[in-house]
Amino acid sequence: MSKIVIFGAGGRAGRHAVAEAVARGHHVTAVVRDPARHQHLLSPTPATLATPAGPTPATLATPGDPTSPATPATQDVTPASLAVDGRRLGGGERGGHGRPAGGGIASAGGGVTLVAGDVTDAGSVAAVAVGHDAAISVAARLDVPSAEFYVAAARALVEGLARAAVGRLVLAGIGTTLEAAPGVMVHDTPGFPEEARAFSLGHAAELEVLRDASTGLDWVVLAPPPVFLDDAPRTGRYRLGGGQVLPSSGEATFPYADFAVALVDEAQTPTRHRTLVAVAGLQG
Ligand SMILES: NC(=O)c1ccc[n+]([C@@H]2O[C@H](COP(=O)([O-])OP(=O)(O)OC[C@H]3O[C@@H](n4cnc5c(N)ncnc54)[C@H](OP(=O)(O)O)[C@@H]3O)[C@@H](O)[C@H]2O)c1
Repeated sequence: MSKIVIFGAGGRAGRHAVAEAVARGHHVTAVVRDPARHQHLLSPTPATLATPAGPTPATLATPGDPTSPATPATQDVTPASLAVDGRRLGGGERGGHGRPAGGGIASAGGGVTLVAGDVTDAGSVAAVAVGHDAAISVAARLDVPSAEFYVAAARALVEGLARAAVGRLVLAGIGTTLEAAPGVMVHDTPGFPEEARAFSLGHAAELEVLRDASTGLDWVVLAPPPVFLDDAPRTGRYRLGGGQVLPSSGEATFPYADFAVALVDEAQTPTRHRTLVAVAGLQG
């Protein structure tokens, strides 16, 4: 593995995924709608990785942005400039699920190329993805109906990645689409808030698009626990499960940094195929 394209790279999960992948020596193409707003991706620091104060995905809508200049703006940065929490990130800090530390990592003298793109447009996906070994999508929008955005993105990723001959896709899912009990998704449990359910149903519809895909795309959707994620320090450790909520080990949240470790692991060394997988922390 040496080249990973990340859609939604300027978001909370995206910033951590970029830093994680580059620190392992991968070359990352960071896809954002407006590169001018995401120059921080070229030199991630604890400050730029932190979630800005303000709306969170599950609670509030954010204003839309003008999208996709026709010509991608590109800039590069070397991994030597990357430090998070005062230390270098590295694949060797993983290990909670028994993977070899750093195993299978092909150092390509990694760096970031920042490009404009639209994850809901198959032509844009194909254009930015060509030549990559794997794709990660952590794109999200709250200012359009969830089902509209996630279904459009899933369709564009299926078609665009096929055109670009990229065979592996790792998506960020949501824990509320996991089963709380056999056959019962968390968002269908009694008392689940209606607004959050509507958002979750968009993710569920995205899953159906992926399940119906006939292009041979090797996808996996990683669903964090149904809690807010935070900017706690990276531990490099996590659990993968199946389609059910993983038993709680007492944690109230899950760090974006560890979610990013799992996303990059599954892009780099796939272990799950064409399925929804729960991911959660180890502590407790
Ligand atoms: N507990 C859980 O299960 C849980 C918790 C957190 C997140 N999640 C899921 O993880 C995913 C990522 O969440 P997040 O917190 O990182 O979201 P986020 O901070 O809102 O970031 C989303 C990013 O997607 C980008 N984007 C929007 N439309 C796009 C498009 N058409 N093309 C390319 N990029 C586009 C946005 O770009 P701009 O910068 O241009 O606006 C933004 O930077 C979401 O699907 C969310 O539902 C799950």
